[in-house]
Amino acid sequence: MVAKNTAVLILAAGKGTRMKSSLPKPLHAVCGYPLITYILRAAQSLNPAAIGVVIGHGAEQVKEIVTENLSAWGITTPVDFFVQTDLSGSASAVKAALPFLQKHQTVMVLNGDTPLLKTETLRKMIEQFQEQAAGALVLGVKVPDPFGYGRIVRDTKGQFEKIVEQSDADDATQKINEINSGMYVFDSAALQKALSQLTPQGPKHEFYLTDTLSIIKKSGQPAVVFTSADFKQALGINSRAQLAEATQVMRARINQFYMENGVTLINPQDTYIDAGVQIGEDTVIASGCYLLGNTKIGSNCTLESNVYVQNSKIANNVVLKQGTYIEESEVAEECQLGPYAHLRPKSTLCKAAKVGNFSEIKKSVIGEGSKVNHLSYIGDTQMGAGVNVGAGTITCNYDGVNKHQTIIEDHVFVGSNVNFVAPVTVHEYAKIGAGSTVTKEVAANGLAIARSRQVVLENKGAKK
Ligand code: UD1
Ligand code: CA
Repeated sequence: MVAKNTAVLILAAGKGTRMKSSLPKPLHAVCGYPLITYILRAAQSLNPAAIGVVIGHGAEQVKEIVTENLSAWGITTPVDFFVQTDLSGSASAVKAALPFLQKHQTVMVLNGDTPLLKTETLRKMIEQFQEQAAGALVLGVKVPDPFGYGRIVRDTKGQFEKIVEQSDADDATQKINEINSGMYVFDSAALQKALSQLTPQGPKHEFYLTDTLSIIKKSGQPAVVFTSADFKQALGINSRAQLAEATQVMRARINQFYMENGVTLINPQDTYIDAGVQIGEDTVIASGCYLLGNTKIGSNCTLESNVYVQNSKIANNVVLKQGTYIEESEVAEECQLGPYAHLRPKSTLCKAAKVGNFSEIKKSVIGEGSKVNHLSYIGDTQMGAGVNVGAGTITCNYDGVNKHQTIIEDHVFVGSNVNFVAPVTVHEYAKIGAGSTVTKEVAANGLAIARSRQVVLENKGAKK
């Protein structure tokens, strides 16, 4: 509510040279979401008048990904894009959004590479900006290692004086450990005026947004620092090492959230939960598990160690034993999987189904209470309820050109080591003898045996 007359401008045009990547920096992932998602979400939660994003390097790709995902990320405020063509610094980026500045009285400017920022901090920044009737406000934090950041230089009274970039800092300035987080609030008119007065700085002759604060101060409006003790939220991502650092902090926050909400993590340091995941109460998650994308895990589930679940829905009371790997699938309540079961995309397990050791399921339905417990491959199959599939059963679904369906109706009993050569249908209550290669339809309640009879030739054994 605070930010009703405030707009948020996100700077995401920079080259991101230090990432050494063909992927634009705003699209590098932290816990399953592109970097820029976190800043957009923080902006959204302020309920601002508008959101602007300045793009440049990789502009089309960034715009496309952001536009496609806005509603999935919960961004309901309209987002305007501005293209910065010259890439000559953070002030030039803001200049590229001049029409945006002209529309709004107060503008919060956020670097697009600080995913750990917290909404409550942004809210407090706006509050202080309003209380002090400031022309500019910057979020300053004291960090253990200020290297690489702009330093906040204060005058003898302790008031804000200027920001000095790393490349321009003398020895004394380099010792200052209060840094500019790259998050600001501006009186839009004052900012526009200051932007027109900038001169290029530093080794790369860039226009620094940070210089506008001292210009605004000199012109008579207060330029102030909002100080936060939580320095982690100011971490800027310029390199892969910082990307890993931010991911670690984000992961710890996510894990903390679930532990506060009734989920047991046996070893939170070694549990990897993406930001879009949901987990129900009393679920227990062992070490080495990866829960990725928009996965949903129900309540009272058990995930043994090294379970991997991506973009899947797991209902309540499900047991995923060690090493189970699930992609884009649905598992109904009371199912049991693993150890070492593999659900490939578009698989559905109905209630209380079991898929056991080294069994692989692809694009198939396994009916209620059905069991595929040992060493099997079930692909492109519709399986009814109460089916028992013997060890080593294989659906031969591919003829080298096309994929074909196998239909196994309710209560079929499949002996061990059976091949189903698809397309083929087995009707309800049928029985398939062990070792059969089934090529033809099997009638309901029938027994199919499709293997050669055993012969024993005398004196042809192993002994001479
Ligand atoms: C910047 C600040 C520094 C601060 C640090 C915090 C400036 C001059 N310096 O340094 O004081 O401590 O962030 O993380 O702002 N960008 C553009 N167009 C450009 C250049 C940059 O849009 O031409 C965007 C980038 O995409 C990025 C942000 O501006 O999101 C900051 O740029 P970056 O190059 O990362 O600046 P830093 O060196 O980190
Ligand atoms: Ca940066």
